[in-house]
Amino acid sequence: MEKAIQVQGVRKAFRDTTVVDGLDFEVQRGEVFALLGPNGAGKTTTINILTTLTAADSGSATVAGWDVVTHSTEVQRRISLTGQAAAVDDALTATENVVMFARLAGLGRTAAKRRAADLISQFDLTDAASRMVRTFSGGMRRRLDLALSFVVTPEVLFLDEPTTGLDTRSRRALWDIIRMLANAGTTVFLTTQYLEEADQLADRIAVLHDGKVAALGTPAELKARVGGDTVELHDSRGELHREIPTDGTVADLRRALDLLDEDGEDGVVSLRRPTLDDVFLAVTAPADNTRPVKEIA
Ligand SMILES: Nc1ncnc2c1ncn2[C@@H]1O[C@H](COP(=O)(O)OP(=O)(O)O)[C@@H](O)[C@H]1O
Ligand SMILES: [Mg+2]
Repeated sequence: MEKAIQVQGVRKAFRDTTVVDGLDFEVQRGEVFALLGPNGAGKTTTINILTTLTAADSGSATVAGWDVVTHSTEVQRRISLTGQAAAVDDALTATENVVMFARLAGLGRTAAKRRAADLISQFDLTDAASRMVRTFSGGMRRRLDLALSFVVTPEVLFLDEPTTGLDTRSRRALWDIIRMLANAGTTVFLTTQYLEEADQLADRIAVLHDGKVAALGTPAELKARVGGDTVELHDSRGELHREIPTDGTVADLRRALDLLDEDGEDGVVSLRRPTLDDVFLAVTAPADNTRPVKEIA
């Protein structure tokens, strides 16, 4: 089956600064794919190339089966992208904005109103539904902008740092909507600086570092890469004293605790599972810089 996104050797520099330096990855249809990287890593640049807003210097990419350069109109017809808040009219209410957007997307009057009501509620804008957007806070604008990108369900939905600047509740509401769309078959390509977000949402994650995909896999695969679970013992000041690898079974946890007991260790025991933070550190650290471990049993 044809891939939702194919990227081959994509490079892009601004003047003499190379931002992406030979990107290669594929996204399956219906997949939620997260591009993870810190500020300035090239996430927006990548999204701009895939959504036909920026031309790559070299390499090629297809979205929904179409080349982003030679068939940009075909691509544009099949995607939607957040951050196009330029579409928001300050002199209209939130509802009016969504209805207008839905009408432009080809929905009938009744369908557009119904869609607007649903989205206004999903994005927690009900109280502000009939207020002019001019009076909105930054967070409210952001939610309205997101709502607009959900008016029609595209083949591939691009979300550039969708939850940046959202409070916890709105962030969780958005995660639910993204999951719902993905379950219904939409391919979602999102960028994020939040490891937790990628972990929660993504089927697969690509870690962007030095303009390249430094690691790619399911959250579980990436975590497995930095080792399995460990039993940790912290002293009263919170310092890590012991770290014992474990497979997490009852028998093995008992073995680890017995070991601590035999050695007369005192302190607070916890089970630690690798997080994507560990992955990120492992992938982006210089080769000789491993996580300090006091002692391994
Ligand atoms: N239009 C542009 N002109 C010059 N430099 C740019 C332009 N767009 C992005 N950059 C630079 O490219 C780098 C990556 O930017 P960006 O793709 O926005 O990263 P991210 O979205 O991961 O934060 C940054 O150093 C940024 O300053
Ligand atoms: Mg960005």
